[in-house]
Amino acid sequence: MIKKNISNPIKLVKYYKLINHNLIYNNKAINRYKRNNLEISGNKALELERLVKSIHSIKNCDLKNNATNMVFSDGNPKSNIMLIGEAPGANEDEEGLPFVGRAGALLDKMLSSINLDRKKVYITNIINFRPPNNRRPTDEEIKRYLPFVSRHIEIINPKILVLLGSTAMNALIGNDEVISKMRGKWIEKKFGNCRTSVIITFHPAFLMRQPAQKKMAWIDLKMIRDKKTN
Ligand code: URA
Repeated sequence: MIKKNISNPIKLVKYYKLINHNLIYNNKAINRYKRNNLEISGNKALELERLVKSIHSIKNCDLKNNATNMVFSDGNPKSNIMLIGEAPGANEDEEGLPFVGRAGALLDKMLSSINLDRKKVYITNIINFRPPNNRRPTDEEIKRYLPFVSRHIEIINPKILVLLGSTAMNALIGNDEVISKMRGKWIEKKFGNCRTSVIITFHPAFLMRQPAQKKMAWIDLKMIRDKKTN
């Protein structure tokens, strides 16, 4: 018989393990901004925390209701380089972090080819909750999450914004062009008070399906590597 006298946090965790139920993080915003570790200014940390809370308080959203975790971001909030993907998949939903599955492994390789890693860049998605069966987010869902991702860009204030794939491109550049025409060029864009140089490149999941396109992605990566940000 399990006693429910579980006021001590250690006992509480043991109790949850015992009943094999992750009640602690289930569909809760996990605050990944270890403010002190990342040494970001109080204001930026506060604005990010506010944004996490406002996304978490979205009402009547099926994506949120069906997700395990909110996926907010990974990486260094002080970075000059911000990357934006589409939406979390199953692994990301499970871990509460973007790009931790197979596409994430390729993204890490792409970053490392230009001497970058997750400590040197900041990563998020257009949508913060996993669409069921990894389907593409609908236009309506994108419209709903757009103010959050725009605010996210404004807070991070990157000099370089890398849009991974056509969902991020269509959402943030606002056109219906095909990605093959839009990739590989710099576009100056303003998000609130943030002026940034945007580059569109292929999504790593697309590159896994179409490895022949990796040579084009390499051109884009070199443009990012060689971009002067001062
Ligand atoms: N694909 C994305 O667009 N984002 C992730 O976080 C994972 C896969």
